[in-house]
Amino acid sequence: MIALRSSLLNMLVCFTILLLLPYPSLSADPDPLQDFCVGDLNATVSLNGFPCKPVSEVTADDFFFDGLSKEGNTDNPFGFGVTQGNVLAFPGLNTLGLSMNRVDLAPGGINAPHSHPRASESIVVIKGKVLVGFVSTSNVYYSKVLTVGQMFIVPRGLVHFQYNVGRGKAILITAFNSQLPGAVVVSRTLFASNPPIPVKILTKTFQVDASVINGIKSRFA
Ligand code: GLV
Ligand code: MN
Repeated sequence: MIALRSSLLNMLVCFTILLLLPYPSLSADPDPLQDFCVGDLNATVSLNGFPCKPVSEVTADDFFFDGLSKEGNTDNPFGFGVTQGNVLAFPGLNTLGLSMNRVDLAPGGINAPHSHPRASESIVVIKGKVLVGFVSTSNVYYSKVLTVGQMFIVPRGLVHFQYNVGRGKAILITAFNSQLPGAVVVSRTLFASNPPIPVKILTKTFQVDASVINGIKSRFA
């Protein structure tokens, strides 16, 4: 009887401890501990995010960003331009766990395959017609052609792209659950890193001759 009582008591203690444990955060970035923390990008201390600018110096301008109203330059071989509205461009986002980009695509332009290590991405087309797609870790390709107002989600860390399949220019707004999602552009990572990945690694990886690898590398020089 005493043993039963003590094991019931143990279970009760464990249950109470579990209830008191904080819920794990479901957002990509950690939750803020204050209303806002406008990033001081010039601070010399290094931490996870940026230190806060003094509240007495914060104004409405710290919460305003008009970068996404401007057309990106698509005059490059890919026919695309990305304007990033992350914490580096818009310090008011510091600690808030979100950011947005504007992607401009010329006709036939591509935002080449890339991934974001710190965020999922939602894509909304505001002009044109765009093929969007990503590949899962099971190597399944998911894609859709989006028109104005339509939305597509790219889960965190997965390789994705956008390709303008319409007749005119296309514009997309992308939103992330991180103040600084980061971008790993597959082609640049493999063929234009600094210092470069040894050619031998790439010939073995792609099962081709060095001339093929050097040919691709020269396109990124
Ligand atoms: C689009 O994929 C973006 O990263 O803004
Ligand atoms: Mn992206």
